[in-house]
Amino acid sequence: MTSFADLGLPRDIVSVLRKQGITEAFPIQEAAIPDALAGRDVLGRGPTGSGKTFTFGLPMLTRLAGAPSKPGRPRGLILAPTRELAAQIRERLDEPAAALGLRVIDVVGGVNINHHIRALAAPVDVLVATPGRAEDLISQGKLSLSDVEITALDEADQMADMGFLPQVRKLLDRTPENGQRLLFSATLDGDVEKLIARYMHDPVTHSTAPVEAAVDTMEHYQLLVGNRDARNKIVLQIAAREGKTIMFMRTKHGVDRQVKKLRRVGVNAQGLHGDKGQGARTRALEGFTDGSTPVLVATDIAARGIDIDDVSLVVHVDPPAEHKAYLHRAGRTARAGTSGRVVTLVMDEQRKEVDQLLRKAGVDAEVVRVAPMSPELVRITAARQPEGTPLPPPGQQPAAGGPAKRTSARRSGRNRGAGGGQASGRPRRGGQQRKRKPER
Ligand SMILES: Nc1ncnc2c1ncn2[C@@H]1O[C@H](COP(=O)(O)OP(=O)(O)OP(=O)(O)O)[C@@H](O)[C@H]1O
Ligand SMILES: [Mg+2]
Repeated sequence: MTSFADLGLPRDIVSVLRKQGITEAFPIQEAAIPDALAGRDVLGRGPTGSGKTFTFGLPMLTRLAGAPSKPGRPRGLILAPTRELAAQIRERLDEPAAALGLRVIDVVGGVNINHHIRALAAPVDVLVATPGRAEDLISQGKLSLSDVEITALDEADQMADMGFLPQVRKLLDRTPENGQRLLFSATLDGDVEKLIARYMHDPVTHSTAPVEAAVDTMEHYQLLVGNRDARNKIVLQIAAREGKTIMFMRTKHGVDRQVKKLRRVGVNAQGLHGDKGQGARTRALEGFTDGSTPVLVATDIAARGIDIDDVSLVVHVDPPAEHKAYLHRAGRTARAGTSGRVVTLVMDEQRKEVDQLLRKAGVDAEVVRVAPMSPELVRITAARQPEGTPLPPPGQQPAAGGPAKRTSARRSGRNRGAGGGQASGRPRRGGQQRKRKPER
């Protein structure tokens, strides 16, 4: 086992991590941190939940420590595809940065830009941004990337898949050419090659797992549900289980409809998708993070990078559009060595599609036929019959603690991040005005 001090990180960071209960480096950290610290360009591919954020973030902070930054001119830049992810990265790096005397801010869409302009008026060492908002701030003359020494792209392939590539390129073109660049994702393929060829210098690749980034603490099931009617009943029963559950849908409309159906039968669910207002998005994630809303229904906007403790089940209500989305959605459970289950609900006419998808994802899923409240369904998902007391729409809950049912049942869990009295993994703001959205 390698400690963070062995990897060359400064004592101040090591002690912040220790307070969070983090002492031994994960494999991708052990492999890539020394190279990143040495100033190399790094391509990092490690499974979901394997600790990539610290792998690019901590060396960046370490290398920037000890020198001043100017207002509006960060020396470190981190780009991420969604508001929620950008906010989460900033939050994870806050404490280690502060320990080195550095300031990290995030700038994302959906937040009043004046707020960011004010934040940039003081020296900023590291800027975490969604590409659109960074561009807006540059065109208003409030942000310059000319001093950027290190750039990290998190979920680089997703930014490419979402059509952000031109924007990302434009931003990278504004950073000094000889700067250090770090690209990380559980899946790195497709158009990312173009970024690598153009912007990385002799990069070292660290890939601690094959593309089919198997997380060995994750169990996969294909649940053959028969027809749509049966599937819809089964969704309600799975959602009524104990513990945190994320349900993925293909469309925003599907999310809204599903949340309504769940709340109608007394399941405290909230929805997250790109057309929701920022307040609703933040509330949905906060409620899910602190356990007061045990079910999150989301589009793929929540599939990448989002790190929430104790998610014990991921449900693909609609099968994902492609195999990478399967891996990222699934990766919201079984993070950092914890265990978790992933079930795909498969209607008869979806069997072929799902088989192909899972094969491409390299996932070995047990195939089980289930029916509403069948013993197999209960065994695999701990499904229960929903109790049936309708809940008001999200945001209209009774203020005093909300519905009493099944709220804070599962809050113990890993307890990482407990050192500072802060729950770990709480994305605070988020989102992004996206032109092209992965959900249809
Ligand atoms: N060395 C470590 N020991 C214990 N926990 C760790 C360690 N490194 C990171 N973690 C925790 O593991 C969790 C997952 O980390 P992180 O979000 O960086 O994963 P990731 O590899 O970026 O996953 P994804 O591909 O889903 O974005 C976080 O809660 C983080 O605090
Ligand atoms: Mg990540």
